[in-house]
Amino acid sequence: MRKNKLEEQSRDAKRPASILRLCFFAAQTALFLSCTPSKTDTSKALPEGSPKFQQYYVHGEELYLRYCSNCHQKNGTGLARLYPPVATSDYVDKNKDAVICLIRNGKSGPVTVNGVSFNKVMQPIPALTDIEIAEIATYLYNTWNRNEGIVEVQHVSKVLTSCDTIPQ
Ligand code: HEC
Repeated sequence: MRKNKLEEQSRDAKRPASILRLCFFAAQTALFLSCTPSKTDTSKALPEGSPKFQQYYVHGEELYLRYCSNCHQKNGTGLARLYPPVATSDYVDKNKDAVICLIRNGKSGPVTVNGVSFNKVMQPIPALTDIEIAEIATYLYNTWNRNEGIVEVQHVSKVLTSCDTIPQ
């Protein structure tokens, strides 16, 4: 009899602790779920590479979404005859230095992308620093089936000093 009472007491004593533990578990689960990407999130896994490469890539994606996706779209498809595609684009594939220049200086005049001609104006984006351009270029050249590795800021800075001589 006395033993049972004792057991009961000790069970009672344990209860608040287990409730606490349950709360903690629930909070952890909620935190975990809130950090897990939702099903509608279509972002791809990071390509493999050094931490520096991955940092460039992640920043580059953010900058692309902020500065480019309005026109070229989130998935890089472009928009009809208004904005050329950058995801599947023979222009992007073949003209890396010109792409670096046009991000800083804009682009106008006729351009043919995948056999389709465009003749519109892309405004310059002077706010972007050399490193930000390197990050955008790293994103551009390592997503949508491209796998060209990091575009170094030193390269970008060098190219930017000679845009006059680079055919667009
Ligand atoms: C306001 C709309 C707009 C924004 C914002 C914009 N572009 Fe463009 N972009 C254009 C247009 C229009 C052209 C075609 C210019 C021409 O006809 O010569 C173009 C051309 C290009 C081209 C060459 C053609 C191709 O599609 O392969 C690339 C590469 C490109 N843009 C990348 C970018 C990147 C990267 C950014 C962000 C840093 C950006 N653009 C922001 C409108 C835009």
